[in-house]
Formats: sequence, C-alpha cells, structure tokens
Amino acid sequence: MVKTKIPFGTVLISKKAKKLVQECLDQGRISSGRLVRNFEQRFSGLMGVQDAVSVSSGTEAITMALAVLYDLGAKRGEEVILPALSFVATGNAVMHAGFKPVFVDIDPDTMNIDPDLIERAITKNTRAILPVHLMGKPAEMDTICEISKRHGLLVIEDAAEAYGAVYKGRNIGSIGDLAAFSLYVAHIITTGEGGMVLTDNEHYAEILRSLRSHGRACKCPVCISNTSSGYCEKRFSNKDIGDIRFNFERIGYSCKMNELEAAIGLGTLDHYDNILEKRHHNLLKMIEGFKPFVQYLWTYTEDDHEKIGPHAFPFVVKEGAPFTRNDLMLFMEKNGIDARTLFSSIPTQCGGYEFLGYRPGDFPQAEYIGNNGIHIGVHQDIHDAEIEWFLERITEFLNQASR
Ligand SMILES: Cc1ncc(COP(=O)(O)O)c(C=O)c1O
Repeated sequence: MVKTKIPFGTVLISKKAKKLVQECLDQGRISSGRLVRNFEQRFSGLMGVQDAVSVSSGTEAITMALAVLYDLGAKRGEEVILPALSFVATGNAVMHAGFKPVFVDIDPDTMNIDPDLIERAITKNTRAILPVHLMGKPAEMDTICEISKRHGLLVIEDAAEAYGAVYKGRNIGSIGDLAAFSLYVAHIITTGEGGMVLTDNEHYAEILRSLRSHGRACKCPVCISNTSSGYCEKRFSNKDIGDIRFNFERIGYSCKMNELEAAIGLGTLDHYDNILEKRHHNLLKMIEGFKPFVQYLWTYTEDDHEKIGPHAFPFVVKEGAPFTRNDLMLFMEKNGIDARTLFSSIPTQCGGYEFLGYRPGDFPQAEYIGNNGIHIGVHQDIHDAEIEWFLERITEFLNQASR
C-alpha cells in the first residue's frame, strides 16, 4: 500500500473544542442552544456581516438563502442563474429550494461564472444570481451586482470554498444579499458537517431562522430553548397566534446545527487567522511552482484586486498535452499525493440534470475542466519541504511524459 504523503485535508479539533464538547455532554444540552448562538455571533464578526444563521450543511445554507426568495414574492419553479462548473451541491440546492437552475458557462481564466454570458440567461422568471467563488477565487462581483441591480434580482454567494477571500477590499460573503458557507471537514472552519448563511438584512435573517426550524413563527436571534426553563416572554404574547413555537408561517426545513458541532466550530475559530495564513502561503507557493509547467498545466493566478481564499490548489491538463488527466492522477496516487478531480459541468456531466435537456457541448469551458481538472490540498499541515517534493514529482512526470 502507498503511504499518503500529501493528504487532501486535515482536521483541527482543538483543546477548547474538546472541553466544550465534554461540557455539553455532561450537561445533556446537545440540541441548538447557547454555543450555537455564540458560534454564529463570532462567525458574523469574523466576516464583517451583521447576521449569521447556522444550518446543518453548506448545501442547506444555499437552499435556505434561496428559500428566502419566497417571502419576497418568488413562485416555485422560477429561475436561478448559476455557473455550470461547481461542486454538484450548488445545483442540488437550487433544486431543493424548488427553483429551476439556469446554467451559464464559466470564464476559463477564473473558473467562475462568465459575467458576459449572464445577461442573456435572464428571463422574466429569473429571481436570483448564484455566483460560486470556486477554489476561493472571487467571482466578478462588481459586474454581477450591477446586472442584478438593473434586473431587480438577488445575489446569493456560494462562498463554501471562499474563507479568507477578498474582492476589491471586501470580504467574500459580505458582498451579495446573502452568502452561504460550508463547515464540512474539507473547509477552513469546520464543525464536521454544517453550514452558515450570512446577511446584513435583519429581515432575511429572521426568515432564515424560521426556515431552518420548520417555518416556525418563533425566530428571535437570542432565544435559547434548550435551557432548563425554556421560558420566553413572547411565546404566548400574541393572542391571535397562540403558541408561536407551534405556529408555522412558511414551508420550512429541518436543518439546525447542534451544540456539539458548534463546540467544534468555536474551537477552530481561535486558530482561523493562523490557518488562513499558512494555507495562503502554501497556495501561492504552488501557483509559483507551477509556472515552469505552463506548457502542459494551467492554474489560476491571484490578481491585484483580490485575495484568493486558500481552499485547495486547482490545475488543468492543457489541450495537446502528451498525457491524460488519468495518467497524471494515477502517477500522483502512486506517489501518495491525494488528488481530486475538479468537479463537473453540472448540467451536462452530472446524470441527475439530464431532464433539463442541456446537451454535451453547451458548456464547453466547464466541460473541459470537468474532463481535465484536478485539485489537491493546501492545508496547514503541508510544509514547504513537501511542496518542493510535490513539485519535483510533477517535474519528473512531465519529463517522462514529454520524452
Ligand atoms: C462550491 C460548493 N458549494 C456547496 C458545497 C456544499 O457544502 P456541504 O458539503 O457542506 O453541503 C460545497 C462542498 O464542499 C462546495 O464546494
């Protein structure tokens, strides 16, 4: 068996997390409560956004953000525009929320939605644009926000992979009307499984708190119902409604975060800045190290107006290379370098989306990356010597392949 020398990810469960988890277990308070509220407040503070609403996954975070549209007058089956290339969860979330996904090809230089193609995808049924900041690279937010403003659409950022990303001085996750982050183990802040929706709009935050809990009328930002008394002054204060905890205002979901998850998340937050710095260092070192491979391998660059969120390191086998992606991935596997493909064109390379009627060739840029893209980890436990070793292995592979 080959020993993994560069694993894709690593999980930090800090001493503080362990202590908090033990306290929850000792007190028997494990459903959403004090720690979840605390984690939300710390998360929103970190991102510079007013409200953070935690949920059970990044996919649910996108789904909840989209479901807010119903309170603003959207009808089920109306349209949401999103890039063809992303992790399939972005498309799935649109389906879960009850909207029709309308896919747009990507710009191959950024791997993000091509802003020049968005406007022609807008119809009278469009309600939102859902840009993805793929591999932490900020999408072209100025153009996206300008188009959405002109057409009266909401912008919902899929920032699952964009911790620490900055676009023209603004944190990714704070630019659109709402933003969704994933807290899955592969991400920079993790709760194991989990997600967070961010918004500066208090009304949207209220709707989100209702949506994640079955559509309840009970949605105060501070209510902690898993305490011994659970007493709430508002609970029976509305004579028309009765018990607000059992009055359901909208069709909701069941996707709250629990205390054990929040405990793990709170433990990670203290290390966030250090982790981010180390990962960003690793990412830039890999981008730089790939420059000599430009004939056969493409990767993105960090432009002056931005900071890439160091989620992972993406690269793509160029047309005309004397090897295939499989050849390279097999070589990496044999050398203990844990690699993943770089997702797929959701509408044309993910079977579940066939019913929409798109055909292979409709999204050439997304499909090319779907067939030829790779990504590997840049996590905080990868050190300079390992990156140098990795670059030597790639050099060795390219020398052999081009002989
Ligand atoms: C771009 C993108 N969107 C959404 C998700 C879904 O997040 P989760 O796995 O937490 O549901 C992911 C997952 O990592 C992702 O990479």
